[in-house]
Amino acid sequence: MVAINPCVDLLRDGAAGVVLMRNAPLNALKHELREGIARALDELREDGDVRVVVLAGNERAFSAGADITEFGKPPRAPALRDLIAAVEDFPRPVVAAIRGVAMGGGLELALGCHWRVAWDGARLALPEIKLGLLPGAGGTQRLPRLIGFRAAIEAILSGDPIPLALARDAGLLDAVLSGPYPAAAIDWALGLDPKTRRRTRERDEKLAEARADPALVDRIAAPLIKKATNPRAAKTCVAAIRHAATATFDGAMAAERQSFLDLVATDESKAQRHAFFAEREARKVPGLPRETAARPVRRAAVIGAGTMGGGIAMCFANAGIPVAVIETDGEALARGIARIAANYETSVKRGSLPADESVRRQGLIAGGTDLAAAAEADFVIEAVFEEMALKKQVFGQLDRIARPGAVLATNTSYLDVNEIAGATSRPGEVLGTHFFSPANVMRLLEIVRGSRTAPDALATAVELATLLGKVPVVVGVCDGFVGNRMLARRSAQGERLLLEGALPQDIDAAMTGFGFRMGPFATGDLAGLDVGWRARKARGIKAPIADALCEQGRFGQKAEKGFYAYGADGRTPVPDPEVERLIVETSARLGVARRAIGAEEIVERLVYPMINEGARILAEGIAARSSDIDVIWLHGYGWPVTRGGPMFHADLVGLGRIAVRLETFAAASGDESLRPAPLLAGLAKSGAGFASLGAQAAA
Ligand code: 3HC
Ligand code: NAI
Repeated sequence: MVAINPCVDLLRDGAAGVVLMRNAPLNALKHELREGIARALDELREDGDVRVVVLAGNERAFSAGADITEFGKPPRAPALRDLIAAVEDFPRPVVAAIRGVAMGGGLELALGCHWRVAWDGARLALPEIKLGLLPGAGGTQRLPRLIGFRAAIEAILSGDPIPLALARDAGLLDAVLSGPYPAAAIDWALGLDPKTRRRTRERDEKLAEARADPALVDRIAAPLIKKATNPRAAKTCVAAIRHAATATFDGAMAAERQSFLDLVATDESKAQRHAFFAEREARKVPGLPRETAARPVRRAAVIGAGTMGGGIAMCFANAGIPVAVIETDGEALARGIARIAANYETSVKRGSLPADESVRRQGLIAGGTDLAAAAEADFVIEAVFEEMALKKQVFGQLDRIARPGAVLATNTSYLDVNEIAGATSRPGEVLGTHFFSPANVMRLLEIVRGSRTAPDALATAVELATLLGKVPVVVGVCDGFVGNRMLARRSAQGERLLLEGALPQDIDAAMTGFGFRMGPFATGDLAGLDVGWRARKARGIKAPIADALCEQGRFGQKAEKGFYAYGADGRTPVPDPEVERLIVETSARLGVARRAIGAEEIVERLVYPMINEGARILAEGIAARSSDIDVIWLHGYGWPVTRGGPMFHADLVGLGRIAVRLETFAAASGDESLRPAPLLAGLAKSGAGFASLGAQAAA
């Protein structure tokens, strides 16, 4: 074995040359790795004893693709597409031995090999679309040649892994091997007849269908483009794939390259790449050494089987962790368990969960009415009513019952986690785990670090979030934490806009135009307006219009009316003249003159005050970095990923402009809280953005 460079080893095994990619953890194809592979091939080309070449990765990955951190930097030879051409043109058979991940440029590299073999569990995907890109190293040309247009379009427009059985049957994989890696691939490769070696670019058979039927590609793609998160990227992918049928290979490759460069430069792709790294950054908690060992979580308990408790219990069961669910009485328990069963039933009916798996998961949930059932749990989550006295009472009881070392978490939306921790003799074990509704679906988990939370209790919550399939973000204690604290600013402005002249449908249309799937009022109706009403009442906050709707029992979809009326299906919001009348009357009563308000102003009025609150949150150290705030909004509140998150959006717009607009809003309304926060104003003055702040330990 010789080291070609720090990223590539070359091994001679009889008549086989084995090129081993060694850029841990995932063999991202950074410059040094590309160069190492090219040099290894040069050596093997000169070696007449080598009959076949095997290209292999490590335990986790063949390769996760191009190194995303290199995008936008000056290119360095060899470019990935040139390297792949060199592999394809190699005069003797080259076999890709795929274990783990082969994604993006990694899969494109494999597509340029003459044969591909994989191990069970391999994940083959072209996920570029999830970064607002298209496969830029021949994927749009070689994949349809191997598996046909339909499967290729579906794979490229979804970005999801291609099921192994499909990959094998359709011709992407030549064999699925077991046995030692990559030795089994070497044996397999040595059995090949070199005369049957073909370059993928010359395999035209599967292109015939689209050549005979020029509308085929668009027919397959049209419904997928409609659903696309980033329609521009989706359309660009389709245009590139279409070239496989209509252009020469070299012409199509040149067009693919240009499209890739165009997409890399779009704000949408920058936002999607930001989101990718922001999510991974959020796992690195400042002030929590990486080596801090998480405690094992073998059993869990959830206190309260209401809306949230039931969903949280499902999260544990879905992850295979037995969970005790504890209620005050048999009736409440039965209601909670029935709702859990109904949720599972829906998944089974929809075909997303096998019936036996649903039974197995429900078997992991044990209901009870005695808090003593929490005694065995390693992680306890309290999800009772949002009342401080009640929460303190529950934590006092848990303190007596829970085993030493158990983490005690509260799912509170707003309350002071330090005060709750103070109800126990072990505040180091107490923290907040703020799930989002529906808890079994929404991916965000705000983890609230109390002033006395022990590092390993915190590490346990972060690790648990990953086990439960959640995206964790650690935040500090304050009223409403990060997400709800910013949301409160948006809600206040929404109410203000209604009073000044907009209607719910105008505001919702402005926000869906911005990229949200649903506007704030339709979302409020879906979640239930009573939730916010109760929270406002408890905190002495008034919202004349929203409060009046709730007083009339207009709680949203569940009451068949809220900010909207609901059509026959009970789910389609229809503008309601009664609501309009109520809004207009309220404006008149409060002496607010109504005027026409355009979509741009609506978006700015809703979004900039949130960003301003985000700046205060950063200044107070409640969030460690601006990208953490983005992750919270992306995964907890439906912020469109093509807009990167509120703080990313702010940097893109420019903090100078935002500061000016905030001053205008403050002057027009007399609301001093709308003035730019000192941090925002300071950054705006120096021309910097939130991203320049880096990370700090959350308070
Ligand atoms: N480039 C740079 N870094 C990458 C990377 C890539 N393509 N893929 C993963 N990483 C980094 C992550 O940022 C992370 O770094 P960190 O430890 O410093 O935070 C580390 O590798 C481990 O990644 P994960 O924590 O994400 O590991 P998982 O095991 O949870 O997930 C994965 C593995 C599913 C492969 C996930 O990493 C992933 O989705 N990666 C991106 C895959 C992708 O989009 N590839 C296409 C790239 S674009 C391209 O190839 C263009 C081409 O067509 C020209
Ligand atoms: P809920 O009213 O649906 O459920 C609360 C449940 O707790 C009830 O079933 C009640 O019987 C039970 N309960 C009350 N006292 C108890 C006790 N001493 N022991 C055991 N069970 C007890 O409330 P929901 O919506 O589930 O909220 C629970 C917590 O989660 C609250 O703190 C809330 O602020 C928070 N939260 C709510 C969200 C939502 O969208 N509903 C979102 C995020 C957090």
